[in-house]
Amino acid sequence: MNSITTSPADTPLWHAVGIASDIPDPGNYLAADIASEPLVVVRNGDGELRALSRVCRHRGFDMLEGVGPQGGDLIGRTGSVKRISCPYHAWTYDLDGQLIGAPVADGIPDFDKGCVSLPSFEVAEVDGLVFVCLDAPAPDLAAQLSEQGTNTSALAQHLSHDAIREEKQ
Ligand code: FES
Repeated sequence: MNSITTSPADTPLWHAVGIASDIPDPGNYLAADIASEPLVVVRNGDGELRALSRVCRHRGFDMLEGVGPQGGDLIGRTGSVKRISCPYHAWTYDLDGQLIGAPVADGIPDFDKGCVSLPSFEVAEVDGLVFVCLDAPAPDLAAQLSEQGTNTSALAQHLSHDAIREEKQ
């Protein structure tokens, strides 16, 4: 799903990326691309939304792109996973983006999985919509929506139509 921008280009941007009710449970995810940044928004084990880069920290593979010889978890623009596994060499991340498995690197001296995680971004839910901001610090989303007179119902309808179109493709 592509994002919808909520502010002018010269200020930090919140982007509407999906509908929260589409990802109600831990492990539910939706994929989004903001500019050239491939993201996955996932509910972690506590049911909180996390916006993570989909770019594997090993060799920069977009973990949604295709299924490699090891398989992979992110298949399709929405789905459900227990963890996020890269289809290339099976590096595996938990639902907060922390690296928990690295088969090709486990034998390397001084390699510390605890120091590796997927970059994360600000994520927020307003009126049932999920927004992501790549910039830090993120501006106040509610204030930004209010200032711009954003109609969140119309935005939700638009995102629903986008999702339906993508499912049909
Ligand atoms: S590129 Fe992801 S595990 Fe190697």
